[in-house]
Amino acid sequence: MSMVCNTLACFAIADAFDHSEINEVPQYQKEFPMTTTLYQRLGGADGIARLVDDIIATHLANPLVKTRFEKITDMAHIKKLSCEFLTTGSGGPQTYTGQGMLAAHKGMNISEQEFLVVVDDIFVALNKNGIDEDSKKDVLAILYSLKDQIIRV
Ligand code: HEM
Repeated sequence: MSMVCNTLACFAIADAFDHSEINEVPQYQKEFPMTTTLYQRLGGADGIARLVDDIIATHLANPLVKTRFEKITDMAHIKKLSCEFLTTGSGGPQTYTGQGMLAAHKGMNISEQEFLVVVDDIFVALNKNGIDEDSKKDVLAILYSLKDQIIRV
């Protein structure tokens, strides 16, 4: 009898416990039931190309950083490298062939504010392209991890 009572008590406790929080499935896994790479969640090669176009257009329209990007002489090359960078960094099938972040930004004296503005512009592009919240957090973590190789180097 006491065994039955214990079992019933366990069921009662289990029922009373709210599982919704620990069982919360990230948004991207609801959309893509299998595990997906960040590369897939950014829309693959086409999605990343659209993102890079929008990121550069946003920089060129932003008074806080536009002069930095207006100076670029070979924009097609920088866009190609940016696509490669995003592809490699998000687990996609392409190898980045450009310089490291330290070498690429050395001597530019990029400020903390400019770094933040560039990150904000990237978020404008991510939002415009309907990228989900979890993937945006993944991108933010990658960008933040690079700050010491970019700011005032
Ligand atoms: C937030 C993280 C950033 C990432 C991931 C990033 C990524 C890159 C990449 C992949 C390149 C091409 C490298 C190469 O030429 O081999 C590049 C170049 C460049 N970046 Fe960044 N960047 C970041 C932040 C910034 C900031 C904050 C600025 C200035 C406000 C900036 C200004 C530039 C400029 C002007 C170039 C082109 C240099 C040239 O003409 O060769 N970047 N960046």
